[in-house]
Amino acid sequence: MVRRDVPGAFLLPLVCIIAIFHIDQVKTEVRLPCGMVKDWFPSGTKPQNSQPPYLLNMTDSDGRSVYDDLYMGEPHYGPGQRTYTITLNGTRSGNMTQNFTGFMLYAYNEFDDEDSGDFLSPLPAGVSKRECLFNDTGQFIEVLENSTNSMYWHSIQIKWRSPKKSISGKITISASVVKEDGIFWDGISVTLNHACPMPGCYLPDGCPNGLARNKYGCTICECAGASSVTVGFLSLAVIMFSALKNWI
Ligand SMILES: *[C@@H]1O[C@H](CO)[C@@H](O)[C@H](O)[C@H]1NC(C)=O
Ligand SMILES: *[C@@H]1O[C@H](CO)[C@@H](O)[C@H](O)[C@H]1NC(C)=O
Ligand SMILES: *[C@@H]1O[C@H](CO)[C@@H](O)[C@H](O)[C@H]1NC(C)=O
Ligand SMILES: *[C@@H]1O[C@H](CO)[C@@H](O)[C@H](O)[C@H]1NC(C)=O
Ligand SMILES: *[C@@H]1O[C@H](CO)[C@@H](O)[C@H](O)[C@H]1NC(C)=O
Ligand SMILES: *[C@@H]1O[C@H](CO)[C@@H](O)[C@H](O)[C@H]1NC(C)=O
Repeated sequence: MVRRDVPGAFLLPLVCIIAIFHIDQVKTEVRLPCGMVKDWFPSGTKPQNSQPPYLLNMTDSDGRSVYDDLYMGEPHYGPGQRTYTITLNGTRSGNMTQNFTGFMLYAYNEFDDEDSGDFLSPLPAGVSKRECLFNDTGQFIEVLENSTNSMYWHSIQIKWRSPKKSISGKITISASVVKEDGIFWDGISVTLNHACPMPGCYLPDGCPNGLARNKYGCTICECAGASSVTVGFLSLAVIMFSALKNWI
């Protein structure tokens, strides 16, 4: 009898540990959708389709704008993990600067399984950060938004750090900005590409269809087109066939 109780005494804490671990897992897997600014207003409220009176700009740690440092005609992040300052400003006309009462700012990647960088603390007063599922995709992202509706901003500056991996896909930093109740603009954004390394390859026979590109759009040292794949597959089949014949 005493002997039989021993495994039970061991099992109970084990079951508890497993249960706690399981609850913890479940808790961290509750991932809410990010939602959109339009959800703050009565249903049917639509974004304005005029030119937004707000500007989004990004500068690197040397104060250089991403619009002034293009790679193949596009803004880019990296190389290496770098910190940028995102500025969201009201436009100026005369001595008046447009203000805003609310906003959402998010960063998302063209690939659901790639990193989209991080918004860094400290955040400006009246701004909070949360993590959520972007636009019904599988992508878990960070969103910044106003945590109060009693403030007006003319300009807001937020630090963002690019992914550790220099080549992680195109990342879009996008803002939706509320001027006043029910009046807002979506898609005030900048898309950052990554700079591809130069492929240092020499293929003596060349490639009939040029070099291939990987999923990130970077040129790699492999021939493009189905023909090379077919040739590879055929020669593999021939080798296997002759091996099989010899063996028989
Ligand atoms: C971004 O900021 C830089 C430097 O502050 C400025 O020269 C550039 O015109 C701005 N670009 C846009 C599109 O606002
Ligand atoms: C945006 O606001 C910042 C801070 O007020 C200012 O330094 C910068 O010149 C503004 N940029 C534009 C394009 O208005
Ligand atoms: C803004 O400009 C208008 C004229 O365009 C002027 O009458 C007014 O005094 C200015 N306001 C300030 C605060 O400078
Ligand atoms: C914000 O801008 C509106 C005009 O667009 C102006 O009437 C209002 O006084 C401004 N509020 C603040 C706090 O600057
Ligand atoms: C979000 O998804 C909708 C429909 O699925 C699409 O029309 C929209 O462009 C997406 N937004 C972004 C920012 O990708
Ligand atoms: C953010 O600003 C919007 C527009 O002013 C407002 O409707 C919303 O309630 C604000 N969010 C919070 C958490 O106060």
